[in-house]
Amino acid sequence: MSKSSRVLLIIIGCIVLVVACQQQKPAPIKKELSGKILVSKFARPLTDIKFASSPERLERGKYLVNGVLACFSCHAQADTMDPGWAPLPDKLGSGRMWMKTDSTHIAYPNISPDRETGAGKWTDDMFVRALREGIGHDGRALVRMPWWNFRNLSDEDLASVIVYIHSIPAVHNSLPERLLTPAEEAGLQNEPRYMSDPPMPQPDSSTLVARGKYLVALGECEGCHTPWYKRNSGFFSGGNVIANDGTDSVKVSANISSGKSGIGTWDDETFIRVIRTGKGGTLHHTMPWASFKNMNDRDLKAVLAALKTTEPVEHRIVNGLKPTLCPVCGETHGYGDQNKIVLPKTNAIDSSLFISLAGKYCWETVDTAVVLVKDRKLCVIYRGSPEIELKEISKGKYYAEGLPYPIIFTKGKDGKAGSFYAADLQPTIYKRVD
Ligand code: HEC
Ligand code: HEC
Repeated sequence: MSKSSRVLLIIIGCIVLVVACQQQKPAPIKKELSGKILVSKFARPLTDIKFASSPERLERGKYLVNGVLACFSCHAQADTMDPGWAPLPDKLGSGRMWMKTDSTHIAYPNISPDRETGAGKWTDDMFVRALREGIGHDGRALVRMPWWNFRNLSDEDLASVIVYIHSIPAVHNSLPERLLTPAEEAGLQNEPRYMSDPPMPQPDSSTLVARGKYLVALGECEGCHTPWYKRNSGFFSGGNVIANDGTDSVKVSANISSGKSGIGTWDDETFIRVIRTGKGGTLHHTMPWASFKNMNDRDLKAVLAALKTTEPVEHRIVNGLKPTLCPVCGETHGYGDQNKIVLPKTNAIDSSLFISLAGKYCWETVDTAVVLVKDRKLCVIYRGSPEIELKEISKGKYYAEGLPYPIIFTKGKDGKAGSFYAADLQPTIYKRVD
């Protein structure tokens, strides 16, 4: 599974909640249920790093923040009459209330430079920590803030974003502090965060696909467009329930994999038109097209080129039709019951390879996978799964029923495999540890 899936479980779940909640009047908050905000166990000490402003950084920061990073699709009051819920131009960075239940609430904080209600007193490193590690200015572990995507920003792009955010006009907008249950706060305090930030060089932009991969990694496309919960049919294959008010207007994310029912047959012009107009204003506002539409043609073409290199998944989704149960993603959505699971054609793995592939593999300190021989079959145990047989799709590419992507082994020392990863635009590499 991808780097962020665990976090995503919480996050995307929250979106569903929010959209559901926005329909109701907020109930009064019961104070006794609230948990004090706790400092994350993974909050590192702050440094006094300072990024110098320059016209190039201001311009680049503005382009990224108002484009692929979509900061103001969350951190601004929105024009709710606009089909894409574009941010109000004089409220950039103001933040707004996000989700509210009887006992809990979370706001998108005010990140404009207002000294009283916003980020006016926050240091550059507080922004670095928020963007790269998901830790707030006060040390709390943040919810929903897509830091696992923003971690991919190059050092220079990160500096540009921070310089630009400091330059926007201050907006006075007071929002309540986060209020969660004590159990939720305690869970967040212990939620693993990355402890080190290796230097991030400028991204490879020598080809359209390489450029697109960088942008896709920043834009949270995979997070929203992968069905993480019931049956994961593959990265970018759509079916993640984003908005559900219990009526036929349930919105699940679209299939944007390279499959025929995804974007496989789209040309540049179609893709650019869909993003720029939100499909004529019909795309739900949770898809941040009101921000993505500010990306230039070259970058949008790059995003499409990168998406065309993903594994093709056939999974048709028609939001607006009566929702029915879909075998492919396990969710209920328009066109669901007409879809069929198509498994890849596989061969048995040559048993002479077993010894070189079997072993224990770790991703940072966060996760482990074990490949082992059982009943003369090569199997994988992944995230506490039972042993699942690995089969060969093509040379060096393996498949395990129930895992959403092919697995690839790289060559290591002694003729044994050195690492194992999911074939993805931004693979999570599991290094061999035994
Ligand atoms: C999908 C919505 C979303 C997007 C997009 C988003 N954020 Fe956030 N961000 C949040 C939420 C929600 C929080 C507060 C979470 C909490 O209190 O647990 C937050 C918190 C933060 C904080 C920490 C605030 C504090 O109180 O210390 C900063 C700084 C921040 N975001 C900056 C940004 C920037 C810059 C971008 C764009 C690069 C961005 N965010 C994009 C949702 C978002
Ligand atoms: C916060 C969640 C979210 C994020 C982030 C997101 N999307 Fe979406 N996207 C959606 C949802 C939900 C839909 C379906 C909306 C509807 O049907 O009204 C959608 C629809 C689309 C569509 C229309 C497809 C069709 O067949 O109509 C495209 C194209 C698309 N997204 C591309 C992207 C790309 C590229 C990215 C990353 C740069 C991205 N999305 C990021 C939620 C998201």
